[in-house]
Amino acid sequence: MKLLVTGGAGFIGSNFICYILARHRGDSIVNLDKLTYSGNLRNLRGVEGDRRYKFVRGDIADGRRVRKVLSAGFDAIVHFAAETHVDRSILDGSAFVQTNVQGTECLMTAAQEARIKRFVLVSTDEVYGSAQPGEKFTEESPLAPNSPYAASKAAADLLARAHFRTFRFPVIITRCTNNYGPFQYPEKFIPLVLSRAAGGQSIPVYGGGMQVRDWIWVEDHCAGVDAALRKGREGETYNFGAGNEWPNLEIARYILRLLNKPQSLLTFVRDRPGHDRRYALHCEKSQGELGWAPRTSLEEGLKQTVEWYTSNADWVRHVESRGYRAYYRKHYERREATLAKALAHGGRK
Ligand code: NAD
Ligand code: TYD
Repeated sequence: MKLLVTGGAGFIGSNFICYILARHRGDSIVNLDKLTYSGNLRNLRGVEGDRRYKFVRGDIADGRRVRKVLSAGFDAIVHFAAETHVDRSILDGSAFVQTNVQGTECLMTAAQEARIKRFVLVSTDEVYGSAQPGEKFTEESPLAPNSPYAASKAAADLLARAHFRTFRFPVIITRCTNNYGPFQYPEKFIPLVLSRAAGGQSIPVYGGGMQVRDWIWVEDHCAGVDAALRKGREGETYNFGAGNEWPNLEIARYILRLLNKPQSLLTFVRDRPGHDRRYALHCEKSQGELGWAPRTSLEEGLKQTVEWYTSNADWVRHVESRGYRAYYRKHYERREATLAKALAHGGRK
């Protein structure tokens, strides 16, 4: 297959490109990425010299640029590009609407004009909102997003559905739980715990730390997207989860034990406004139709993640040198102000 991957310089996109090139010798990939703060070409050093791989810088919301890239001709598009951090979306949602909604609409329209035969939209479990204890979402569950990030992803997800219903646009939607593994930007919880612990810095745990996420090893997600691309039915949605439901506090404690760092680094801070309590998915459809199943236990994946971040301290330093530390300070100051405002309006759950 000749693939266009968007957002391939980010965490999951870069893992996906390496995954595909290693497993499908006949495939080639063009990676279209704007290189925002979370896009990093270092993530792709392993495939830089591969003649089947090419990088093109561009914004998915720039119609002219997208049409030019598509004029090279592709069999399929796998669309990862997005603004992805919930906390940033709480501080300012505009880039989320611009890229996740406007960008996805622009990309799908251009793909339709170019008569692309297959388009995988990488959506998220966060579109379903928070699960009650014992509840799990199926692909038919209603969408009830609670953060500006999740709402922008739900908008993209619904636009994809509309393009299928209206134009028979050959889209397949995937909704996955929280990923972890190599190359994840250290604003997300697991790499944040790792990088803060390595530097002996305090680790912010939101609220009481009892929110539950279902953590999936990034390569298991890549295998799911690959299966959806090759075997998924047009117009269908597929959930991917790992059944690894752990409260945040336990994850952080476990990582500190692996690193032999003191538990006293954990610092409870005020909760995120609108914080989803739990995410959990039924995945029988993807297991039955795509023959997909997660393979990596959380213990094994965390061990590998800890090893990767420990032996790639220069990658973390590089990412942090690109303004992350300054962002982090500003982010926490602004976060306090936003929380105060939300509390004043009774907006906190
Ligand atoms: P990331 O933030 O690490 O990477 C996003 C990438 O998109 C970056 O390389 C960035 O430069 C690029 N990008 C952003 N705006 C762009 C634009 N306008 N045009 C072109 N490129 C642009 O994100 P990630 O964690 O790798 O997530 C990838 C996708 O998977 C997203 O769509 C996200 O919603 C989805 N997802 C993520 C998770 C998770 O746990 N991380 C779980 C489920 C679904
Ligand atoms: P995150 O990695 O931001 O993913 P998401 O919000 O998309 O699930 O956060 C994972 C969980 O960790 C979430 O419940 C919020 C929590 N969290 C903290 O407790 N402290 C932090 O500093 C961050 C970034 C997240």
